[in-house]
Amino acid sequence: MSQEITKVTAPLPFTRKDVAEHALDFGKSWEYAPSPEATDHFKIEPRYELFIGGKWRTPKSGKYFATTSPSTEEKLADIAEGNAEDVDLAVKAARHAYERVWSKMRPAERAKYIFRIARAIQEKSRELAIVESMDGGKPIKESRDVDLPLAAAHFFYHAGWADKLDYAFHGRRARPLGVAGQIIPWNFPLLMAAWKPAETTPLTALLLAKIFEEAELPPGVVNIVTGAGETGAALVNHPDVDKIAFTGSTEVGKRIQRALAGTKKRLTLELGGKAANVIFADAPLDQAIEGIVQGIFFNQGHVCCAGSRLLVEESIHEPLVRKLRDRMATLRLGDPLDKNTDIGAINSKMQLEKIAALVDSGEKDGAERFSAPCAIPSKGYWFAPTFFTGVAQSSRIAREEIFGPVLSVLTFRTPDEAVEKANNTMYGLSAGIWSDKGAKIFWMAQRLKAGVVWGNTYNKFDPSSPFGGYKESGFGREGGRQGLSAYVELDG
Ligand code: NAI
Ligand code: MG
Repeated sequence: MSQEITKVTAPLPFTRKDVAEHALDFGKSWEYAPSPEATDHFKIEPRYELFIGGKWRTPKSGKYFATTSPSTEEKLADIAEGNAEDVDLAVKAARHAYERVWSKMRPAERAKYIFRIARAIQEKSRELAIVESMDGGKPIKESRDVDLPLAAAHFFYHAGWADKLDYAFHGRRARPLGVAGQIIPWNFPLLMAAWKPAETTPLTALLLAKIFEEAELPPGVVNIVTGAGETGAALVNHPDVDKIAFTGSTEVGKRIQRALAGTKKRLTLELGGKAANVIFADAPLDQAIEGIVQGIFFNQGHVCCAGSRLLVEESIHEPLVRKLRDRMATLRLGDPLDKNTDIGAINSKMQLEKIAALVDSGEKDGAERFSAPCAIPSKGYWFAPTFFTGVAQSSRIAREEIFGPVLSVLTFRTPDEAVEKANNTMYGLSAGIWSDKGAKIFWMAQRLKAGVVWGNTYNKFDPSSPFGGYKESGFGREGGRQGLSAYVELDG
């Protein structure tokens, strides 16, 4: 088997020509006809206000900012820019709703609202998925098959807990904590939406507010204040917030932690990552290739737990890299609304510039670059799926979160070396292990400093399974009872 593989391999470095030379050529019969989602069955409004106390309110600043589509660079809508005064109104509305209504309501009643919201998300999932792809650039097959079902699943899961909180923590009584401020990034906007949506992808959170209205959720229980960093900072610094949950960059996470030091506010941080995806020689290679592609190219690599460092056992480096290159040549990059698109648009111009700068640094450091030979549309922000071989551990592309479709390939010879290299990072959010031997996977999983470790799979999420990091990837968990515990006060 391995002999057969070596026969057809081309030497490194790779060029477009190498891929074309040994790949099977089916001519035009492999090309897909365009299959775009229709967008004429719903309307994006020209302007969205802030959702505070169950009402749509104009921002105190009177200012609006545009949210655009990163695949067409067209403006989609004007979004209100909330300031500290708006945040104060939202926190007051939340406090009022919490004290007078939500915490007084029978738990089974609270569950009814959350179930209602979950069902409404399912009913409107097509529209929500399309808007998510328009606003953020992610392929429709991902927003349709991952973001939307998972968002609904999270509401269903937590609706189920609402009237069982007293049984969740080993007989200790749990009551809701109070007012929670949630600051949301742009990579999974709806999935994480609740409080302050990110500036480049606010639309689905605002559609979610409409669902809250339809579900007749009591006013103030959820408030949505759109804006940029200053709006987020106003929420962090508001004295009447009981808890802050932040997902975003490690840099801003550290700033928030400093701001909250010495206050009674609780904090959970879900920050960056530089996950190792470890491939042993005994792994099922073709499955591993799918896991590698999924791990790094899902959502254009805008994923905190992306498998961005590939650690390959040295003996299979060559065939694995060849298979990966061939697989990448089949990825379709383009219109996020096309159902056949694998790689959508990069979320913003700023993010594209960051990716390009890090890729340049990789080339300057002497790593070997391969980018999939795909046509780049003339409008919008795009980056071809890329990997580097010959990457030094000290190189920026091996250490920093690129948050784009860029993979760094490193090698190891023994399991101990794999553990050492995998843990050689300031992050610790996730990892993947590929091997035919269950015992080897467990042995590795125990030694990896990562909050989530996947075995022979990657990027699998479930609301009942806690997700979160070690080290500079943050602290606290989302999902499962561990996730719930950040939002409750326990008696006794
Ligand atoms: P960011 O951390 O600045 O933004 C995330 C969210 O925090 C946004 O909603 C933003 O408005 C808000 N924010 C910004 N400054 C704040 C402050 N001082 N106080 C409170 N909230 C604040 O991340 P950005 O600039 O969008 O992306 C930069 C890099 O961060 C990316 O290239 C990527 O490496 C990483 N990132 C990681 C994410 C993850 O899920 N781990 C998500 C987003 C970004
Ligand atoms: Mg946008």
